Amino acid sequence: MRVAVIGGTGTLGSVVVAALQARGHEVRPASRSSASHPVNLSTGAGLREVLDGCAAVVDASNGFGSKAAQAVLIDGSRRLLEVESAVGVAHHVVVSIVGCDKVQNAGGFGYYRAKVEQEEVVRTGPVPWTLVRATQFHDLLDTLFAGAAKVGIRPSVEAPLQPVDVGDVAHAIADAVDSGPLGRTLAVAGPQVASLRDLGRTWSVATGRRRLPVRVPAWGPLREVGAGALVDDDPDVRGMTTFASWLKARYA
Ligand SMILES: NC(=O)c1ccc[n+]([C@@H]2O[C@H](COP(=O)([O-])OP(=O)(O)OC[C@H]3O[C@@H](n4cnc5c(N)ncnc54)[C@H](OP(=O)(O)O)[C@@H]3O)[C@@H](O)[C@H]2O)c1
Repeated sequence: MRVAVIGGTGTLGSVVVAALQARGHEVRPASRSSASHPVNLSTGAGLREVLDGCAAVVDASNGFGSKAAQAVLIDGSRRLLEVESAVGVAHHVVVSIVGCDKVQNAGGFGYYRAKVEQEEVVRTGPVPWTLVRATQFHDLLDTLFAGAAKVGIRPSVEAPLQPVDVGDVAHAIADAVDSGPLGRTLAVAGPQVASLRDLGRTWSVATGRRRLPVRVPAWGPLREVGAGALVDDDPDVRGMTTFASWLKARYA
């Protein structure tokens, strides 16, 4: 099957591209920086050329900051679906976040609000869909702790998370592509729930970078996260790779 992966050069998208290729699909990795399939969701440039002849599209793009989130995730999804509908794409798979609807009203979580709106654009859009919600990627926590370590601290929050390997998420997305449109949400979560505090300790041990733990209370914008909004005890797909084993491979 010919499949376009929008955001196919990103952290998740590049692994989705590899997973689909390993199953024999003809894959078009698309993004602004893609040498073979340049597209821009903010303007619509390149979309018709890239989507022409595709049976399915995976949207693993991302946009941070309120302007980019609006342009890429929300308006970009509308542009993408309009072109998909025009060229006859039969299945749109969009990536979202476990619990984004539970934290969207908390202050500082405008990104999650944009994800909820993106989901709604897809659910009410013209192309049959599958929505794959994942928990936080191991890469994201690694970036968070590495950034904090640079300024000498380790954020310590009593908030449960359930980080997952992008390889496990990519596998679930490839399964969704092969199954066809479900018209429902699939949740993909990591194998273990642990507090951000404990994940930080695991990161320090694995990297040998011990830093001053700075306690951040799980209230205000973090209240819902502290109450477990971003974990799923009974996901449709449970990843295999723990944060500790991912770190071991990453820092070996
Ligand atoms: N990170 C996490 O922990 C996590 C957890 C759960 C779900 N998710 C979801 O997973 C998806 C992918 O996240 P990620 O962390 O893999 O993102 P990422 O590494 O930041 O990759 C984003 C991709 O989108 C492309 N992109 C950005 N702006 C674009 C534009 N205007 N037009 C076309 N392509 C554009 C980027 O390439 P160019 O810059 O070259 O255009 C890149 O390929 C997102 O929907 C995110 O919400 C992420």
